Amino acid sequence: MSESPVAIVTGGAQGIGAAISIELLKKNYKICVADVQLSKAEAFVNEQRLVYGKENIIACFCDVTKEADYKQVFDLTLRTFHKIDVLVNNAGIIREQEPQTVVEVNLMGPIFGCLTALKYMGKSKGGRGGIVINTASIAGFVPIADVPVYVASKHGVVGLTRSYGTQYHFDKDGIIFAALCPSFTRTELVLESRNNTVRCDNDFSKRSDLMSTEHVAKGVIKLLEDKINGSALAVTPEGYDYVEVQELKNVHV
Ligand SMILES: NC(=O)c1ccc[n+]([C@@H]2O[C@H](COP(=O)([O-])OP(=O)(O)OC[C@H]3O[C@@H](n4cnc5c(N)ncnc54)[C@H](O)[C@@H]3O)[C@@H](O)[C@H]2O)c1
Repeated sequence: MSESPVAIVTGGAQGIGAAISIELLKKNYKICVADVQLSKAEAFVNEQRLVYGKENIIACFCDVTKEADYKQVFDLTLRTFHKIDVLVNNAGIIREQEPQTVVEVNLMGPIFGCLTALKYMGKSKGGRGGIVINTASIAGFVPIADVPVYVASKHGVVGLTRSYGTQYHFDKDGIIFAALCPSFTRTELVLESRNNTVRCDNDFSKRSDLMSTEHVAKGVIKLLEDKINGSALAVTPEGYDYVEVQELKNVHV
């Protein structure tokens, strides 16, 4: 069995997912880039193969809104690399004019990803455990007038991560769940967000504080090193800060 750890990155063909894949390759991971844009994923993989070796990275079609597609991604990754250590549920969109699609991609996607990881990696199902990182956003904590549906989906991803990231699930399945929560980052999602938000007078792409994808991807390495179950790491231009769960008076769960 391969000594290198193995990771699947959804939405890995470009933007933050591509940067995460590169950071993981630098750390000696073998990677499956799973994306709905297969030709873009293949082009990215071919480029990276020249640097990191053709045996270390593959591309696979995956529409994260389809649970069956996750099965294909996990099966191909297992056939190719013989194990899976990490899943990064990263695919996401801003498209306020299509609320159902936003929820399907941004929230159902990570839900199907977590469920598939539990099936393939969970110790209760004969797996070896591992780590699932869900790309949420600072929109997982704060309201943003421009993108209410996107914000709702990302609050959902933080709640999903923190709920699977509890002692009960860890004792059962040995999987650590953590959320990556970046602020505004220079990617297609932001650069083309102008026509996808509810107000056209506030152009995210004009912000002076856009982060690089490399800066965000280093947050994944921190999460993998720190291994704090149920954690949510805010990534801002200033750095990396864990966001604690807000306690509610008289509410005990
Ligand atoms: N860019 C930002 O400012 C920012 C901030 C916080 C969080 N995020 C989150 O980071 C993640 C990556 O976004 P990005 O900024 O790199 O955007 P991006 O548009 O550059 O990349 C998104 C990737 O997801 C893929 N994708 C979209 N729908 C898919 C589907 N149904 N199935 C599989 N893949 C699909 C796209 O093909 C693309 O490769 C998203 O979850 C996004 O919400 C982005």
